[in-house]
Amino acid sequence: MRALITGATGFVAKHLTKHLTNLGFEVWGTTRKSSPVLFKGIHHIQTLDLNTSIEQIVSYLNFLKPDYIFHLAGQSSVKKSWDNKIETFEANVVMTINLLEAVRGSIVAESVKILTVGSSEEYGEVNLENMPISEKNPLRPISPYGISKATVSMLAEQYHRSYSLNIVHVRPFNHIGPGQDVGFVTSDFAKQIAEIEEGKQTPIIKVGNLDAKRDFTDVRDIVQAYALLVAHGQSGKIYNVCSKKPTSIQEILEKLINLSRCQNIEIHRDLSKMRPSDFPYYYGDSSEISLHTGWSPKMSIDDSLKDILDHWRLR
Ligand code: GDD
Repeated sequence: MRALITGATGFVAKHLTKHLTNLGFEVWGTTRKSSPVLFKGIHHIQTLDLNTSIEQIVSYLNFLKPDYIFHLAGQSSVKKSWDNKIETFEANVVMTINLLEAVRGSIVAESVKILTVGSSEEYGEVNLENMPISEKNPLRPISPYGISKATVSMLAEQYHRSYSLNIVHVRPFNHIGPGQDVGFVTSDFAKQIAEIEEGKQTPIIKVGNLDAKRDFTDVRDIVQAYALLVAHGQSGKIYNVCSKKPTSIQEILEKLINLSRCQNIEIHRDLSKMRPSDFPYYYGDSSEISLHTGWSPKMSIDDSLKDILDHWRLR
């Protein structure tokens, strides 16, 4: 089986490559900017900007003939989307249209199974009585990122309905793990704690909104969900990928500080880390994916946080 991962040098892609390789897949990847690094397990990384020419993407698909496409390329930061609205739409919406148009024009149009990646941010404002959030919940996104991902989910449904492409769309809730960049909450906190331990930073940790509650799943569980969904997920369907448990950002911070070798860390609010709107409370319902694939997350949040902190300690 041959899998193509777009955005192959990203955080989730590296974990997905490892998982697919272990399952016996031949994994190929595309990346926007040329990457001198060939990641372990990946057969070949092609420099291909999905924003430019559809013909180039068609040629590549006709050459590769993938059985599966995991479309992970995109702009994944909610925070950045407020300052980079156009780039966010180019990376998330335009690249998805180009890829789906290319698939439609390629020789694998009828055979390839595609996974498009959305987000729990598509739901946006959700009434408390509608928690845990199911896939049927109306979409009322409150960030540019959420709007871009809601558009991706509608594109996925439309290309399935209008052109019979085999597409499964996922709505992952917050995913965390070793290798995630700064700019996401657990890495932002863990990197600072690792630097405080090394004496590179005074024992003050800068934080944003600690009151929000989010549904966290380890990336190593998330990639298992993606592999199961391309094999067993129903084309045209949308699946939440989540843990069904809300955890507050305050709790994440306390857990990471408890794992630290320094206990006298001061916490400072940094206004630049706050967002124009940040929904206070989210957790998802993952019954659909469990029903169709048997998936459920295995890693505890404590184990994930330990691995994330160890990752930053080794950098
Ligand atoms: N990044 C960050 N850094 N967030 C902070 C910080 C900080 O120092 N302090 C508090 N927060 C709060 C944010 O305001 C938000 O409420 C929460 O922590 C989580 O922030 P992020 O880790 O940046 O994640 P996100 O929820 O905005 O988006 C992530 O999850 C989505 C799914 O819900 C990303 O992984 C998205 O790509 C993903 O789609």
